[in-house]
Amino acid sequence: MIAVTGVTGKLGRVVVDDLLTRIPATEIVAIARDPRKATDLADRGVDVRAGDYDDPASLRTAFAGVDVLLLVSSPDVTPGVRPVQHGNAIDAATAAGVGRIVYTSAIGAQDGTGFLADHTTTEGLLRDSGVPHTLLRNTFYEEVLVNPGLHEAVAAGELLGADGGQPVNFATIRDLGLAASAVLTGDGHAGTVHELRGPLWTLADLAATVSEVSGRPVVYRAVPSAELGAIGFVHDLIASGLFAEPSTDLEKLLGRPATSLRDAVKAALS
Ligand SMILES: NC(=O)c1ccc[n+]([C@@H]2O[C@H](COP(=O)([O-])OP(=O)(O)OC[C@H]3O[C@@H](n4cnc5c(N)ncnc54)[C@H](OP(=O)(O)O)[C@@H]3O)[C@@H](O)[C@H]2O)c1
Repeated sequence: MIAVTGVTGKLGRVVVDDLLTRIPATEIVAIARDPRKATDLADRGVDVRAGDYDDPASLRTAFAGVDVLLLVSSPDVTPGVRPVQHGNAIDAATAAGVGRIVYTSAIGAQDGTGFLADHTTTEGLLRDSGVPHTLLRNTFYEEVLVNPGLHEAVAAGELLGADGGQPVNFATIRDLGLAASAVLTGDGHAGTVHELRGPLWTLADLAATVSEVSGRPVVYRAVPSAELGAIGFVHDLIASGLFAEPSTDLEKLLGRPATSLRDAVKAALS
């Protein structure tokens, strides 16, 4: 049995949909904080179970009989919360005899700071658990920058950035979910770390691609990150060089190149 947490979220949904193309629905356990939000999966024959990271007993029940577990990291970035939630899940999986845990970690988790430190802590909890595991060090979602909001850049004729010209190796949620599904169903992944990253591009490349796809002039303009509102911290992280290193791990798991910037922009503007 392969179990996935966070199935009502964007990544978990991609994973379960892909698993349904690879293995029988009866071999899939979909774990949701609120199973009523996953009734469509139950209708497709998936075993939908309740599991809340804040409720250890619910996790022990949810993980019963599971061979491989995808632990999707919690979205609660309140300081101190995620390590406890993930620790609850790892302890429950250990108690339930889960054979392997696959964890959606993050880029830089080998020595993460700020909210990335939660992933560093969780990777340590997994090592300490003794349960065979696989780390998916996901880069940031491409959708953070490549989304329908680009229509505003088209209308303004400019794309603002505070990236310092540093490259970005973001990947689409779909590609990251498909890679997770491949790791869940494939052999030889115990004890491995996958640095999941897409092709490198810069915000100036993004402006040029938006211009090409939209057929309207869009120029890149550098501004201080404080002028970018809530997304400014992402630009600061880009400028720090966090996303500058490429990796072929994602395309190896996909068996094809990761989604190109051009295709992502076309989808965002469609
Ligand atoms: N790489 C990136 O750029 C990036 C960006 C954003 C997030 N992330 C991380 O990647 C994870 C998956 O991304 P996503 O886009 O799928 O996030 P998402 O759409 O926000 O989904 C989060 C999932 O976690 C579930 N959840 C929340 N609290 C829970 C709890 N206490 N117990 C059990 N499940 C709980 C949610 O269930 P409900 O439907 O009940 O809320 C939902 O299914 C996020 O949670 C976050 O840790 C990564």
